[in-house]
Amino acid sequence: MNQPEANPEFEALLDYLNRSRGCDLTGYKRSTLMRRFRQRMQNIKIDNYQSYLQYLQYHPQEYLDLLNEVLINVTSFFRDREAWGYLAAEILPKILASKQPDELIRVWSAGCAAGQEIYSLLILLAEALGIESCLKRVQCFATDADEAALQQARRGTYSDLEIASIPPNLLEKYFEQTEQGYVFHPKLHSTIIFGHHDLTQDAPMSKIDLLACRNVLMYFNPETQASILVRFHFALKNTGFLFLGKSETLINRRQIFTPINFQHRVYAKSLKLELEDHLSINPKSSKNQEIAPATTQSYFWQTAFETSPVAQLAVNLNGYLLGANEQANRLFGLTLDDWNRPFEELEPGKLLCSYTSMTKLYRNHRLVTLKNIEWNASQSIRYFDIAIAPVFNSKKQLLGIVLTFLDQTACKRLAAKVDLTNSELAKLSETLQATESKLDNIQMELESAHQEIQLLAQNTHH
Ligand SMILES: C[S@@+](CC[C@H](N)C(=O)[O-])C[C@H]1O[C@@H](n2cnc3c(N)ncnc32)[C@H](O)[C@@H]1O
Repeated sequence: MNQPEANPEFEALLDYLNRSRGCDLTGYKRSTLMRRFRQRMQNIKIDNYQSYLQYLQYHPQEYLDLLNEVLINVTSFFRDREAWGYLAAEILPKILASKQPDELIRVWSAGCAAGQEIYSLLILLAEALGIESCLKRVQCFATDADEAALQQARRGTYSDLEIASIPPNLLEKYFEQTEQGYVFHPKLHSTIIFGHHDLTQDAPMSKIDLLACRNVLMYFNPETQASILVRFHFALKNTGFLFLGKSETLINRRQIFTPINFQHRVYAKSLKLELEDHLSINPKSSKNQEIAPATTQSYFWQTAFETSPVAQLAVNLNGYLLGANEQANRLFGLTLDDWNRPFEELEPGKLLCSYTSMTKLYRNHRLVTLKNIEWNASQSIRYFDIAIAPVFNSKKQLLGIVLTFLDQTACKRLAAKVDLTNSELAKLSETLQATESKLDNIQMELESAHQEIQLLAQNTHH
C-alpha cells in the first residue's frame, strides 16, 4: 500500500524511471525508497526530487548508482546461522526423503545478491548428498534484479572478509584460495544457473523444492509482497519449502503458505491458488482491469504448454531454443541448460535439419507439417509428424516458430502390421484359389471316373 502522504514530485520521479528505463519501483515501500533516494541525492548535493529527475535525464550513469543504492545487496554466507542449521537438520532430509534416488532437486535463491546465499545452499546439499550425487541431481537457480550483484555472484570469488562466516572445514572443502580470493568449487558452480529476474515482473521458475528469498520481500509494500508470494506458490512443488529472512513477516492473507518453523521462517504450501490469487499477481491489476485477464491467461497458457501431452518447442528467429515443455524435455533429454542454445545443435534440431533447413522453415510463414519423420532414438526407431507453426507479433512480424512433435510410432507399427496381414491374406487367397482349382480338377476326374464306371457297368450288363 502506498503511504497516505504520497509526495507528487517523488511519484513523478518514479513514473519517469518506469517510462524511460522500464524500472518499476512502485511496489517498494515508500519510506525505505525515499530514504534511499535522499541518500543518493545527498551524495551529489541535490535537495529536491524535481532537480534529481533532471539530473537523471542528463547523467545516464546516475541511474545505475541509484539502483545500487535502492537494491540494497547486503548479504553473507550462512546469514543467521541457526536458521541454516535448522534447514540442514530438518528441511533438507525431508526434501531428500520425498525423492526417488535419482530424482532432481531444484533450488532457487531469489534475490541472491552477490551469491553467498546460493553457495550456502549448495554446500548444505553437497554435505547431505555427497559431491558426486549433488553434481548429478541438484539444479540451482540464482536470480536478482541487480546486474552488478549477479556478475559478482557468477564469479563466485570472495574476499577474506566475505568468507569469514564460513566454517573452516567447509571453507577448505568447497573453496580454493587463489590470488584473486577464495574461489567456489568449479564443478559444483556449474550446477547453478544465474539470471536476471525481477520478482515483481518476471514469470517464476517452476518445480522448485526449496526457494530461499531472504531479506528481499521486506522492501516491498504489502500488495506487491502478496503478488510475489503467489508467484512463489506457483514456483514451488507441492512438497516444496519457502525460506524467508529472519525478520520478515509473511503477509499471507489467504494463508497460501503455512509456517513449518516460524522462528526460522520456513514455510510450506497450504491452500491451492484461486482466481483471486492469480489476479493479484500484477498489483496494478486492481487499478487496471485490462491487465488482470491477460495475467491469468498467461498463467493458464503457460501451465497448459508445460503439461501438454504432446512434445512442443519454441525456437526464436536467431535459431535458438526459447523453451520446451515437459514432454519435449523427456523425449529429447533436454534440460534448462539447453535453453538459448542453437536449436540445430540439439537432438530435435538435428532431426529436423536432416529433412529441411531452418531458413526454409522461417520462410514458410504458414503452418507446415512434415510427415513420417524417422528418428533413430537410442533404443528404437520412432516416427513423428512434425507441425511447424510460425508465431507473429501484433504487427505481423515473425518472432519464431513453434514445433509440435506428434508421435506416430504406434500408428506406423499398426500400419506395418496391417500391411503384413494383408500380404499374408493375399498369399492365403492365392493358395486357396490353387486349392480350389485342384479340387475342381479332382472333382472333374472323379466325375469322369464315375462315368467310366457307369459305362463299364452298362457294358458288363449287356
Ligand atoms: C538485502 S539483499 C538479500 C540477499 C540475500 N538474499 C540474503 O538474504 O543475504 C536484497 C536483494 O534483493 C534484490 N532485489 C531487490 N528488488 C528485487 C526485485 N524486484 N527482483 C529481484 N531481486 C530484487 C536486491 O538486488 C538485493 O540483491
